Amino acid sequence: MALIRNRNINVLFDAETLAERNDALAGQIAQHGHEDLLVIAVLKGSFIFAADLVRSLYKAGLSPEIEFITLSSYGADTKSSGNVRVVRDIESEVSGRNVLLIDDILESGRTISFAKNLMLERGASSVEIAVLLDKTGKRATNITAEYVGFECPDYFVVGYGMDVAHAFRELPFVGIVSDEE
Ligand code: IMP
Ligand code: MG
Repeated sequence: MALIRNRNINVLFDAETLAERNDALAGQIAQHGHEDLLVIAVLKGSFIFAADLVRSLYKAGLSPEIEFITLSSYGADTKSSGNVRVVRDIESEVSGRNVLLIDDILESGRTISFAKNLMLERGASSVEIAVLLDKTGKRATNITAEYVGFECPDYFVVGYGMDVAHAFRELPFVGIVSDEE
């Protein structure tokens, strides 16, 4: 338990656990033998996971191109609105590329389904998905991720890039805010 800005945070996945899992995921991704891989980090929540995972991909022998797309489905609330929109788009040509989308959490699946469909519409040869956390109990679409860091219990988690009302992204671990403000 850590007390951060007067909130109690229970550590769910610590830094060492996350680092080990990233190396394992990168090993799995490398085994699929992707040529000309275009990695697209779905911002903002995935920025730390993506930064660590691409360095694990390097260790696993891959040299991906790295892009960023900012999608929004939440506003400032903690409930998905179901309305996904592109806040800031990628710059690269997607047609004919093997795309790996990286996101922090797969929950309803609306965000990543939107991103996957967008890349397929733009002519990607393949689109695979890597997520750090999978909240399987909350799925509202039939999307699955090829690469999953951890199954996540149905709590609102923060840290390692993920926020609640724009706070706690900087934490080097994934945790659960255990008390109300
Ligand atoms: P989905 O569209 O319902 O799958 O929601 C996925 C997105 O919601 C993720 O990319 C996160 O940004 C956000 N999200 C879902 N659950 C959490 C959480 O527990 N903490 C922080 N962000 C979350
Ligand atoms: Mg997100």
